[in-house]
Amino acid sequence: MSDDGVNVGRRRFLTAATSVVGGVGAVGVAVPFVKSWNPSAKAKAAGAPVKFNVSKMEPGQMVTVEWRGKPVYVVRRSEEVLQNLEKVTPLLRDPNSEESIQPPYVNPQNRAIKAHLLVMVGLCTHLGCAPMFRPEVGATDLGGDEWFGGFFCPCHGSKYDMAGRVYTGVPAPTNMDVPPYSYEGDDIIVIGVDQEGSA
Ligand code: FES
Repeated sequence: MSDDGVNVGRRRFLTAATSVVGGVGAVGVAVPFVKSWNPSAKAKAAGAPVKFNVSKMEPGQMVTVEWRGKPVYVVRRSEEVLQNLEKVTPLLRDPNSEESIQPPYVNPQNRAIKAHLLVMVGLCTHLGCAPMFRPEVGATDLGGDEWFGGFFCPCHGSKYDMAGRVYTGVPAPTNMDVPPYSYEGDDIIVIGVDQEGSA
């Protein structure tokens, strides 16, 4: 009697296990054909692209978008900010981004596809803290006349300009990274997909 009970129970278990496997298999096959598939939080953490609409951003505004578990800073830069990128050049370690990480299709000085929109991984290249957005030109605690707005890392004092280019004399060795990204139409930024279309 008790043996029968065990066998029945085991048979039931095997049946249940088989249908679960069958279910997973079916989903695995179906997903690639679903056209408007929204990546889950898990898929995003593993590297799925992230889209962000910049049309409502005001000049001077910064928004943080999460991509692959990292903060990506998106900044709408004003005309004045773009002009200051030239003035700050003598104070920078790698003004032409020759030793820094960025895709080949961004401008090496303003570090963007469209100059007014900076897209950058918001992690300090020293030990990975998230630098603070400090856009105020001439901020006395950041160097007064030598501060044209940018990012300040509170961990060990590294300073970056409004293109994420690192100042000389601070612990961070290189400019902040620019991730692969592209535009879909005028206003949608796709972070994680190169401008030419390859992920
Ligand atoms: S982590 Fe930014 S200065 Fe050290």
